[in-house]
Amino acid sequence: MKFFVDTAEIDAIAELNDFGMVDGVTTNPSLIKKSGRDIIEVTKEICELVSGPVSAEVTATDADTMIAEGRKLAEIADNIAVKVPLTWDGLQACKTLTDEGKMVNVTLCFSVNQAILAAKAGATFISPFIGRLDDINLDGMDLIEDIRTAYDNYGYETQILAASIRTANHIAECARIGADVITAPPAVIKGMVNHPLTDKGLAAFLADIAAADIKIL
Ligand code: E4P
Repeated sequence: MKFFVDTAEIDAIAELNDFGMVDGVTTNPSLIKKSGRDIIEVTKEICELVSGPVSAEVTATDADTMIAEGRKLAEIADNIAVKVPLTWDGLQACKTLTDEGKMVNVTLCFSVNQAILAAKAGATFISPFIGRLDDINLDGMDLIEDIRTAYDNYGYETQILAASIRTANHIAECARIGADVITAPPAVIKGMVNHPLTDKGLAAFLADIAAADIKIL
């Protein structure tokens, strides 16, 4: 399973990258706004830090402008994945940019039918949003499972990039289902290490180390 980090914060990306935990990065307009940085500048910096795909999202809603924006974003670095929304215009932009050899991430996917359309348009990645479905009392994980089945039924090569991940449990479930990639905020990825029995076991070992004065160095 590949790990993408869902942030535009350079320090947070660098910290996880040093641990070998970063296979790529995803950004969106809200994350760029949160960073307070210029989209081109911050995206360039991320691409210099990370060798895997870095998703940068278009701002237009019509296909022609999305294509022009996608071409400009792709000039930033070879590892840019142009992110387009799952609309007819977005799918048209996906097809054109894919035909030009660019990676495309089709975002804001909330149904299997949308995911099939993105695969047929040649998307490199499809981004189904788990948390936002959970937010409206639907089951985001069912969508990941259904897209996995549909893509396997027909051999679509588009990678399932599970997005809008809010908990470490979401990541474990995505691994069980076979999502190709997850993208999550740094805090959620770091939270995967937590287990109360690890904390309890370590506390007991530390107590015995102190009691028996065990020393290695
Ligand atoms: C990533 O590509 C998405 O934009 C992101 O995961 C959305 O997450 P959110 O629903 O928590 O904003």
